[in-house]
Amino acid sequence: MKTIRTVADLRETLAPARRAGSSIGLVPTMGFFHEGHLALIDAARDACDVLVVSLFVNPSQFGPSEDLDAYPRDERRDADLAERHGVDVLFAPPVDEVYPDGFSTTVAVHGLTEVLDGHPARRGQGHFDGVTTVVTKLFNMVQPDRAWFGQKDAQQALVIRRLVRDLDIPVAIEVLPTVREADGLAMSSRNVYLSPDERERALGLSRALEAAEQEVAAGRLDARDVLAAARRELDARGVEPEYLELRSASDLSPAARVDGRTLLAVAARVGRARLIDNTVLGGTE
Ligand code: PAF
Repeated sequence: MKTIRTVADLRETLAPARRAGSSIGLVPTMGFFHEGHLALIDAARDACDVLVVSLFVNPSQFGPSEDLDAYPRDERRDADLAERHGVDVLFAPPVDEVYPDGFSTTVAVHGLTEVLDGHPARRGQGHFDGVTTVVTKLFNMVQPDRAWFGQKDAQQALVIRRLVRDLDIPVAIEVLPTVREADGLAMSSRNVYLSPDERERALGLSRALEAAEQEVAAGRLDARDVLAAARRELDARGVEPEYLELRSASDLSPAARVDGRTLLAVAARVGRARLIDNTVLGGTE
């Protein structure tokens, strides 16, 4: 595996594969790998000839009061895991390679980015502008045929699908199911912030989603019933959600009932960690 820091070196390294018509896959990450990242890497490894994993903690998607400086990092461990999982290129550029002096372009997807995490009272649309700008840059730098993302960031996956559709970016977007701990907690790099007691309370999120799934399985499809069942599980663990919302899984419009593929999304702060989770009700993920 080669670790590459510059766009020029990346292009030179990938040129022979591109000329030979080999398929190139990209897994964009912010590092501190967990099983969720490794599931994306393994799927991508099976599906393409040359696999690039990017490791870049993107400052532009963190708000001023967010955890950019504290965000967990361990490049040596990530590089070791990447190598063991068959990654060909670890692209780990410094900040000024991605955002050189005078950088002044933003790629924004409207609508989808104004609700849930993008609501002005939460991370805000600026968070998604940071994501879509860096993902566009990564797509231009690597020029992959396919790129892999996790369903845990369901809103991000929808936004990226819309980005590539709207801008005719020739990258197929693959979204894989959320990977969970044995007890249901969604894998997240931010889980390292949780104390044992907070870890227990954080289970409220996945339990809330399970309660909603049971409600739907029992035929109660009205949003009030589904949300109340989910809310009871959060309350039982003293978790106050930032949001707990039922929305269309295709365009994030509000859903009054589970009708077709409907996204139940939750975000909550547990101790220092801001956690998100979701499930798609009334259809398969
Ligand atoms: O999901 C993430 O880790 C990030 O948002 C991404 C897609 C790597 C962009 O920085």
